[in-house]
Amino acid sequence: MSNYKIHEDIAAALSSYQLPVKLPFGLAPGPIMYSVEYVDGKWGDGLLEANKPLSLQPSAKVLHYGQEIFEGMKAYRVNQQRATLFRPERNWARFNQSAQRMAMPKIPEELFMEGVNLVTAYSETIIPEKSGESLYLRPFMFASETNLGVSGGNQFTYMVISSPSEAMHPGTMKVLIERDFTRAALGGTGGAKTGGNYASSFASRQHAQSMGFDQSLWLDPRDQKNIEELSVMNFFAVINGELHTPRLTGSLLDGVTRDSILSLAELMGVQIHQRAINIDELIAQIQSGECSEVFCCGTGAIISPISTLGEYDGTRYQLVKSNGDLSLRLRESLLGIQESRLEDSFGWLRTIPDACYPS
Ligand SMILES: Cc1ncc(COP(=O)(O)O)c(C=O)c1O
Repeated sequence: MSNYKIHEDIAAALSSYQLPVKLPFGLAPGPIMYSVEYVDGKWGDGLLEANKPLSLQPSAKVLHYGQEIFEGMKAYRVNQQRATLFRPERNWARFNQSAQRMAMPKIPEELFMEGVNLVTAYSETIIPEKSGESLYLRPFMFASETNLGVSGGNQFTYMVISSPSEAMHPGTMKVLIERDFTRAALGGTGGAKTGGNYASSFASRQHAQSMGFDQSLWLDPRDQKNIEELSVMNFFAVINGELHTPRLTGSLLDGVTRDSILSLAELMGVQIHQRAINIDELIAQIQSGECSEVFCCGTGAIISPISTLGEYDGTRYQLVKSNGDLSLRLRESLLGIQESRLEDSFGWLRTIPDACYPS
């Protein structure tokens, strides 16, 4: 931990905060934020303070070259007094993998967790408590060095902000197969959680939404034949009762939820396959009924069944059941652990150390 400071404006920010009546995913900002600077090879001391605008020079490198990474994780307080986090060490490890790819400094686990733990502990009373709700946490880092030199910087800021939220995409989803654009390049940054991957997905998403879909489904960057993932979710299909998911190729994100689902499915005795999933073969299996469910998963969405896969020409492939049995069972197992209704047999939950709570 650093010699962090707690700004006195925290108390007023928290006491005047009203939890919104409706909690859309990620739209309502939490009242406090954590930040720490990295300058010339050294991390400084953290600061927890009320949410406020940042002051950045117009030449800050992040604004020009997009040198930025982030994570998405949740603090839960359903059925429990004290907040818990779900597998935060995996978010930390992935953050550092993203940092390495984007030529940014790695952050020690204690400092990454200092920000996450302080924001969670101080916000504990405003963490929503209904099933499916949580405090969404957004750790991120950006290049704050101020010059236009086209090179990785020497000055970075790590921050944690939050948003009390319900699950992203509650209900089933309609997904458009993206046949023109790809999300990631071979050898590119698809496996890193960096802003540019998301900015470059928005045009496809807008197109999908204009056709009545919720999201785009990305195919592989080389042949555009194999399924990769959605923009913020990994992809699964149930074929003849067995669970299939695209193998990690380096161009899709290694999701914490994906990994947890694979462990839960194995525990349930379901056969699992991580492999290349050809989109045209999958469509044929949907049409023949061999593929009974497709669903996507991520921290925000948990598990969302896909009811319809669609093509640009208007063809729609409907799944037999819009709410699949296995996806619902997996969702309940995962959420049951996250919300402390079911035994945490994998030891995935973490509480916040007492030292991080206000004294
Ligand atoms: C591109 C992408 N794929 C998959 C996921 C799912 O990852 P996780 O389960 O760790 O949230 C996310 C969300 O973080 C994502 O942004």
